[in-house]
Amino acid sequence: MLVSANEMLKKALDGKYAVGQFNINNLEWTKAILITAEECRSPVILGVSEGAGRYMAGYKTVVGMVNGMLESLKTTVPVCLHLDHGGYEGAKSCIEAGFSSVMYDGSHAPIAENIKNTKELVSICKSKGLSLEAEVGSIGGEEDGVIGRGECADPKECGEIAKLGVTMLAAGIGNIHGAYPSDWPGLSFETLEQVKKEVGNMPLVLHGGTGIPEEMIKKAISLGVAKINVNTECQWAFQKATRAYILEGKDLQGKGFDPRKLLAPGFEAIKAVVKEKIELFGSNDKA
Ligand code: 13P
Repeated sequence: MLVSANEMLKKALDGKYAVGQFNINNLEWTKAILITAEECRSPVILGVSEGAGRYMAGYKTVVGMVNGMLESLKTTVPVCLHLDHGGYEGAKSCIEAGFSSVMYDGSHAPIAENIKNTKELVSICKSKGLSLEAEVGSIGGEEDGVIGRGECADPKECGEIAKLGVTMLAAGIGNIHGAYPSDWPGLSFETLEQVKKEVGNMPLVLHGGTGIPEEMIKKAISLGVAKINVNTECQWAFQKATRAYILEGKDLQGKGFDPRKLLAPGFEAIKAVVKEKIELFGSNDKA
């Protein structure tokens, strides 16, 4: 059964580790993540962007697929199904479809509008026992066509949003979706410390988990980050493994095209990324 992120993130914050959010795009990714989380005895968050939701034929399909897998794979670790960077309407649709958690990304809107929409979603999520992630300070890079500049959040604004009763807060601290440029100055731990002072005991979320050096990940966790999002690294691993398989000509061995065989190397590659991240974030054996 799907659970919200409330309990798992509280435990992560207390235990000084982070729960990984791994974004899903199809059946193979979902299965690879669920199997690995179970093998590692780790709680896990499946992230779905609005674009990935459309690709997978809508949020109801995603909920059906994930719930079906939890049952057939006999998953026992806590699994949360979370909308990633949702708009206000997207968040409402996911709640209706059966997601156990949503992110409302109002970081591109004026703070007054971000507060108004967040407030409404807090009350809906509380009444249904779901978790809600809010964002302040846009995360850099491009995701699903949304381009952010990698701002550092205003700690006071973070405090205002935290007070509304969200479960977790994504505060921009110089992090970027996708690859980090060679001249990236690194995470702003100064901003992270100031944000932490303003939000108290609220779990913080670090987006753009691909390519952040290990020491920075560990320091961020020690300063209150309890959820880390990873997407691009799974995409890279999946593509690389699939490409290698095709270049070896294994998809053309005269027996017709077998999608199960073609996608198997990508599936294994995602499992390896997820295992590595779970160990780095320290959530293994915490389920
Ligand atoms: P990456 O794509 O950089 O791993 O970031 C993922 C993310 O933050 C999803 O919200």
